[in-house]
Amino acid sequence: MASLVGKRILLGIGGGIAAYKSAHLARLLKQSGADVRVVMTAGGQAFITPMTLQALTGEAVRTSLLDPDAEAGMGHIELARWADLILIAPATADLMAKLANGIADDLLTTLCLATHADCLLAPAMNQAMWRHPATQRNARQLIEDGWRLLGPAAGDQACGDTGPGRMLEPEAILAEIGATATRLDNVQPLTGHIITITAGPTQEPLDPVRYLSNHSSGKMGFALAEAAARRGAEVRLISGPVALATPPGVTRHDVTTACDMATAAHRLAVDSDIFIGCAAVADYRAESVAAHKLKKQPDQDGMMLSLVRNPDIIAEIGALAAPPFLVGFAAETRDLESYARDKLERKGLDMIVANDVSQTGLGFGSDHNAALVLWRTDNEPAESTTGRRELPAQDKPALAEAILDTIVERLAHANRPQDNQ
Ligand code: PMT
Repeated sequence: MASLVGKRILLGIGGGIAAYKSAHLARLLKQSGADVRVVMTAGGQAFITPMTLQALTGEAVRTSLLDPDAEAGMGHIELARWADLILIAPATADLMAKLANGIADDLLTTLCLATHADCLLAPAMNQAMWRHPATQRNARQLIEDGWRLLGPAAGDQACGDTGPGRMLEPEAILAEIGATATRLDNVQPLTGHIITITAGPTQEPLDPVRYLSNHSSGKMGFALAEAAARRGAEVRLISGPVALATPPGVTRHDVTTACDMATAAHRLAVDSDIFIGCAAVADYRAESVAAHKLKKQPDQDGMMLSLVRNPDIIAEIGALAAPPFLVGFAAETRDLESYARDKLERKGLDMIVANDVSQTGLGFGSDHNAALVLWRTDNEPAESTTGRRELPAQDKPALAEAILDTIVERLAHANRPQDNQ
């Protein structure tokens, strides 16, 4: 059984028949050493009584947002701050819809908006409800907002249907929580570091209504920013035009073009000790931007665009007198390693994260990615490292953690004055 000694877990119980399994789950969490507090929705209390959970956890169960006694003691904000991890099991379709839309109309949904804890939920509902496009949309939104979904499992359902929607068994949920807790325990802190990260695409205007750009969604760079902030770094995120929320604790600087991004990068990199170039920066821009919408001419079958080179932002940061520890990305569709090695050398980087963007489901726009990380070993004895690490396909938040782990390791080897601070 996973050890959760000292972990503060807030167990939220929604209104589904699977709530009867939550009593066993609470017991398993307690047996693993966790400090468990339970919050139940009104629906949850229709299936299992707060008294049962109170007896199993030894703690008063909270059920009401507007509870004068509790607000004087442990109110909803304190509960949100108290938790290392929030686990909602079962999470009904209705509860998922509320969470996905930021609705806070009871204690559980309110404290979920107020917390910085890791948030997990175990969906449980009828298979048709789970398959409904609205629920699927909400599930995607929750994942994008940082929730981890455990399950659902498929099989026979209490309603007589068969299919996906069963809550994972308590033992399986416990195993997932154990893995999350181990990951959190092993995280290398970045307290005291200032990190500037570029993310997303740039847009290079051609005229007032058209631009050159690429498919970067910003997900990889934002995942890095969120993970670095969670590790205690001061994070400055320079973002091209993306549709993502700013991660908690991150200072965001929005830009549009490569030249805007270069200006922001120079300003913010000077006193940063780590710079990560995750943005997909356009290498070229229009030589001149038309003042009015370009019109097609009746006698014109083709059109020539005259482009000029954009600044190579990361190479310019690398050329500063005292550059930060410099991490570039390489997006390649073939010869991944040789192109990445070339960029590592040519751009003066300390490390490069190479991703093969020709693979379906990985890279641009996707929620998942895989990477080959290469780093310089100039200052080290030859036998100390190979300078190469393969990071398998995983979701971008998990990959971001693995990249930061590698950066922290390499920082310890890099012979830089700021490491002595
Ligand atoms: O945003 P997502 O949808 O999550 O996708 C993530 C990603 C695929 C965009 C990301 O993982 C990635 O690979 N980012 C770098 C994309 C890229 O432009 O690679 P490149 O090989 O063209 O550039 C090499 C490096 O030079 C990069 O660090 C880039 O930021 C930097 N560069 C490039 C051109 C330029 N003018 N200035 C730069 O600083």
